[in-house]
Amino acid sequence: MKFVTKTLVLGLIMAGGIALAQSKAADPDVNARQTLMQGIGGSLGAIGAMVKGDVAFDAAAAEAAKATLVANAGMIAEKFTNNASDPLSKAKPEVWTSWDDFVAKGNALTAAATALDATSLDGLKAGMGALGGACKDCHTTYRAS
Ligand code: HEC
Repeated sequence: MKFVTKTLVLGLIMAGGIALAQSKAADPDVNARQTLMQGIGGSLGAIGAMVKGDVAFDAAAAEAAKATLVANAGMIAEKFTNNASDPLSKAKPEVWTSWDDFVAKGNALTAAATALDATSLDGLKAGMGALGGACKDCHTTYRAS
């Protein structure tokens, strides 16, 4: 790679990093719950990429993604307990006014993630619908678009 191209690519990567840093919520609680969700999103993305065939099935990666999903889903209630606000938060006030239902939707994700058979591609394919459904079920009610 030529020096100019390298510099340009590096510049773009850094600009992206700065943009990302600026779009982080200032409130630590909001930041923590969004980071938790990003972990969930990354794990579902890894599973989804295998299901779609964009990435070859990898049992260790599938198991790791499942483990992160189970662990992070289990922390949803804890990370959202504090009704913290931030201009960058998309959590609707209903999270806290319908707390028991919100927690139940978090538990539904834990259940779907726990039930996932990550030992085969067929297992991932079979479990993907329940996982995606659990995200959608909560986001539809509790996350602003
Ligand atoms: C129990 C409810 C609930 C479940 C289940 C849930 N989410 Fe979320 N998610 C939220 C809420 C509420 C927000 C908004 C948080 C905020 O901005 O303060 C959010 C935000 C996000 C974000 C944006 C994070 C950011 O950087 O701002 C991603 C990505 C995400 N969720 C992915 C997922 C995926 C993927 C699943 C399913 C595997 C899932 N979520 C399941 C409630 C949920």
